[in-house]
Amino acid sequence: MEKTKVTIPTLAKMKAEGRKIRMVTVYDYPTAVIVDQTDIEIAFVGDSLGMVVLGYENTVPVTMDEMVHHGKAVARGARHTFLVVDLPYGAYHLSEEQAVANGVRLLKECGADAVKLEGGAEFGPVVRALVRAGVPVMGHIGLTPQTAGALGGFKVQGKNLEQAARIYRDAVAMEEAGCFALVIEAVPAPLGKIITERLTIPTIGIGAGPDCDGQVLVIHDLLGLFERFTPKFVKRYADLGKAMKAALDAYAAEVAQGAFPGPEHSFAGNEEELRRHLGLA
Ligand code: KIV
Repeated sequence: MEKTKVTIPTLAKMKAEGRKIRMVTVYDYPTAVIVDQTDIEIAFVGDSLGMVVLGYENTVPVTMDEMVHHGKAVARGARHTFLVVDLPYGAYHLSEEQAVANGVRLLKECGADAVKLEGGAEFGPVVRALVRAGVPVMGHIGLTPQTAGALGGFKVQGKNLEQAARIYRDAVAMEEAGCFALVIEAVPAPLGKIITERLTIPTIGIGAGPDCDGQVLVIHDLLGLFERFTPKFVKRYADLGKAMKAALDAYAAEVAQGAFPGPEHSFAGNEEELRRHLGLA
């Protein structure tokens, strides 16, 4: 049966019916094609791109041009999944005009269905400006990697009651500003649950417990392709890094031994005739 395109109403209906939303990061065309063949609803070009694909220390250096470059590749493969592309650090912090210009760019140039931005209540006006301009916004609260330095590093947020109350207020503010969904990262599970019950928009957790309306993981963590560090909330579903290393070791060994390429990977020809023709016989 031909799959239908996932839309914002699809995601709202899933929350209303208590069906879990599945989201994963994607950064390139071949992976997008595979994700599009699964039941995952949201393909997300996260600025984690900077760390897991481009080799930066953190997400801060990621540029709009890098997001557009990868967003376009993913859009060519993600035909049915809902496509969200991150606004990187510095792309929405200067003014509402700057945020709208960059949000519109992700929709027009990448073909994104929506953008995501990190931040709490203080970003309400920016979200309102984007939504007014017709750019659907997914919020992101709790641990916000772009400003992790100010939060004391990549640490669980909302552990004390005051912090938890602030994150709860951020969630309500993001819904009121017009976000259609909200990522909640690295908070205690009861806080994820309470926010999910309070909001009418879907919550997508990453380290926010099992009661969020959906879950998101970074695909390189999920597939075992990123070794630098693994947060507690990651579950590894495969060890593709090991599988890639084994395949590359086998290739290197076979080339060294002359075992690759064999006749089945070579094009036949008449060596004697060729030598005569070249005056080498
Ligand atoms: O960029 C990213 O991958 C993210 C996820 C952690 C949600 O923002």
